[in-house]
Amino acid sequence: MSDAPNVQALQSRGEALVHEAEREAKRLQTSEAAHACKAKYLGKKGLLADVMKQLSALPPEERKSVGKVANTIKEQLEGIFDAALKRLEQEALDKSLETSGVDVTRPARERWLGTLHPLTRTTFRIIEVFQSLGFVIADGPEIEHDFYNFEALNFPKDHPARDMQDTFFASPDVLLRTHTSPVQIRTMLDRKPPVRIICPGKVYRCDADITHSPMFHQVEGLWVDQRVSMADLKGVLRAFAERLFGRHTKVRLRPSYFPFVEPGAEVDVTCVLCGGKGCRVCKQTGWLEILGAGMVHPNVLTAVGYNPEEVRGFAFGMGVERIAMLLHGVDDIRLFFDNDIRFLRQFQ
Ligand code: DAH
Repeated sequence: MSDAPNVQALQSRGEALVHEAEREAKRLQTSEAAHACKAKYLGKKGLLADVMKQLSALPPEERKSVGKVANTIKEQLEGIFDAALKRLEQEALDKSLETSGVDVTRPARERWLGTLHPLTRTTFRIIEVFQSLGFVIADGPEIEHDFYNFEALNFPKDHPARDMQDTFFASPDVLLRTHTSPVQIRTMLDRKPPVRIICPGKVYRCDADITHSPMFHQVEGLWVDQRVSMADLKGVLRAFAERLFGRHTKVRLRPSYFPFVEPGAEVDVTCVLCGGKGCRVCKQTGWLEILGAGMVHPNVLTAVGYNPEEVRGFAFGMGVERIAMLLHGVDDIRLFFDNDIRFLRQFQ
């Protein structure tokens, strides 16, 4: 049956169509043209349909073979145009890459997951310890009035901390706070005792070298109640030091002076590196100074309207950078602010 005249006629005309389509497809320049050309051959009124029409009125026994041949031709034609479209798409992509300079087929760049800054982590660790001891967080503004930063904290008018060298003044009365102690004042003016707060935040001083930065961080603490003593202060600080630096850490208080406390003390912990034997970090003393503290001065209690006969309190203040430097063995404070990813990644 395969040599029936209709089948043969279809076969040879189909082959001719395929040849022609191949030639035409090679010359196609755009995908629009390719679609149009495909329709010319394969569309409802296309060339293949034309051929099929001329073969109408087939005797039933030929229909099957004709159908088979027609299908093969159709598939060949489709293959030709699909290949042409693919080629044109690739050419268009190559061209756009050449002109735009962007290779959109490249794998995406790996995304880095951010982590908390080492100073943020250190602040959180400090806060956590004091929260577990019943302290709550309080805060205040970084642009501060002289009254809260100095006056109410019992700073005499000629105190060196008021010096232009240390303080960034915006006007004679307005400044960038030089410590977080003014939050003590704001909180006590706002609330009745008992008060048990910690105040983390940024502070500013006109000073810069490997251990000083013009902007740095402090955490202030304050506990005022009827019967708070120096022994409570030492107990709280010892618990803090043991939790932060390790349970064998010891604490010592050395007499010192801060206008807003009396007595005042500087607080040392046994060296985090040598444990007290003496090394490079503690300059062979076995001790590291980590904060200032003392019993709240009666003048301060009076300035906020508390009665120094009825309540007492202790306060302490520490630099977050210093603690972070000790915890991680960092010897230059500026590393915290350079934002060098090679430095920051070590704290992941
Ligand atoms: N405010 C002091 C400073 O910035 C630190 C300080 C010392 C805070 C003693 C205190 C304190 O509360 O009792 O140097």
